Amino acid sequence: MNVKLSSFLVSIAVLFGLLGVSNGGKLSLDYYKDTCPQALDIVREVTWKHVEQDLTVAAPLLRLHFHDCFIRGCDASILIDSTANNTAEKDAIPNLTLGGFDVIADIKVAVEEVCPRVVSCADIVALAARDSVSFQYKKSLWKVFLGRRDGTISHASDALVNLVPPTFNFDKLKQRFASKGLDVFDLVVLSGAHTIIGDSHCFSFSNRLYNFTGKGYGQDPSLNPIYATYLKTKCKNLSDNTTSLPMDPKSSLSFDTHYYKILLKHKGLFQSDAALLTDKKSFKEVKKLIVFEYFLEKFAHSIKKMGEIQVLTGNEGQIRKNCSVVSLVYE
Ligand code: HEM
Ligand SMILES: *[C@@H]1O[C@H](CO)[C@@H](O)[C@H](O)[C@H]1NC(C)=O
Ligand SMILES: *[C@@H]1O[C@H](CO)[C@@H](O)[C@H](O)[C@H]1NC(C)=O
Ligand SMILES: *[C@@H]1O[C@H](CO)[C@@H](O)[C@H](O)[C@H]1NC(C)=O
Ligand SMILES: *[C@@H]1O[C@H](CO)[C@@H](O)[C@H](O)[C@H]1NC(C)=O
Ligand SMILES: *[C@@H]1O[C@H](CO)[C@@H](O)[C@H](O)[C@H]1NC(C)=O
Ligand SMILES: *[C@@H]1O[C@H](CO)[C@@H](O)[C@H](O)[C@H]1NC(C)=O
Repeated sequence: MNVKLSSFLVSIAVLFGLLGVSNGGKLSLDYYKDTCPQALDIVREVTWKHVEQDLTVAAPLLRLHFHDCFIRGCDASILIDSTANNTAEKDAIPNLTLGGFDVIADIKVAVEEVCPRVVSCADIVALAARDSVSFQYKKSLWKVFLGRRDGTISHASDALVNLVPPTFNFDKLKQRFASKGLDVFDLVVLSGAHTIIGDSHCFSFSNRLYNFTGKGYGQDPSLNPIYATYLKTKCKNLSDNTTSLPMDPKSSLSFDTHYYKILLKHKGLFQSDAALLTDKKSFKEVKKLIVFEYFLEKFAHSIKKMGEIQVLTGNEGQIRKNCSVVSLVYE
């Protein structure tokens, strides 16, 4: 390696060190090869069983992985229940409308039966995201590197600071992703997750319909007006906090590139989706991502990066027995 390149790599390492982002090169594909060779099959079997019964389970499982990784790194802290002394991430306000916890719990029970205290909840979250989305194609759509350990800390206040609100514009999205070691390409391709069997509540976008001025009225001019009229028939006013709609209507049962097609017709549901058209580089990428093979290749690359955000490895953290409860050290 030449000197220039290696000093460049060192400065990158220092930069990430300063930002507190370690994008874990310590994970590996065959991490459980000796300690729990059945782990991956069990996770897939239990996940597929759930998705087969209810296709809509895939969306919350994929989103769970995203939220887990953005808050304190991919350490399954999103699964921890609040206690008398602590309000955990999953109970953060505004309500995060997360799901899939029951599936993760089910997987964990099955894995614990075979290999007690070996497979982390954090790895299970990453695998379940992959397997649930892959069910449709009956083959794994991307590789999941393993060896994450479970965190012991989960604070609601961390969720508010680290998550990505749907009202963010391009610069804010770019900044928030950069703070996790993810670039503009990762932002554009990971937003493609909104193509699946996912739902959104009216409150995540109704400001675009009824309060775009911030003064209690006005519609977002960047939203397709015909689509806006349709959305208004579903979300009748700003205080509707119960109705939810498919994010990618005509293709809502499929993990495909339909998201980018409707985005280009200005039918992206959130401001954060529409924002991807407001930057030259990002706009160009949106058009390329319409090709499914290209999308899959890029998604695999970016979700691997996302799955490495601030991971705990080696002796850090713990392997929880029950994913929603921090294990006591002496257990
Ligand atoms: C770019 C920034 C992002 C923003 C602002 C954002 C925002 C949102 C919002 C507001 C919802 C609807 C929640 C509700 O109203 O119930 C949602 C749903 C969803 N998001 Fe994102 N998201 C982003 C990135 C991602 C990423 C990176 C992934 C996964 C890789 C993801 C996966 C999903 C999925 C699968 C759903 C549907 C969940 C369900 O149906 O239960 N999102 N997102
Ligand atoms: C809450 O904190 C008190 C005192 O610090 C401790 O005795 C108790 O066990 C804690 N309860 C829980 C559920 O963690
Ligand atoms: C928040 O989400 C939880 C879990 O999905 C749900 O039980 C609760 O009713 C929600 N609360 C509000 C205020 O939306
Ligand atoms: C409209 O948006 C503004 C700015 O976000 C907010 O302060 C206000 O409460 C909203 N109005 C209504 C009626 O929700
Ligand atoms: C808002 O819409 C909901 C659902 O359609 C309706 O029940 C409610 O009365 C409406 N509220 C206002 C203030 O118009
Ligand atoms: C929905 O809004 C109503 C009135 O604004 C409020 O009383 C209710 O608690 C809210 N429900 C949820 C689930 O947030
Ligand atoms: C895990 O802990 C939660 C919360 O304390 C509890 O409700 C659940 O039954 C436990 N799961 C198992 C499999 O023990």
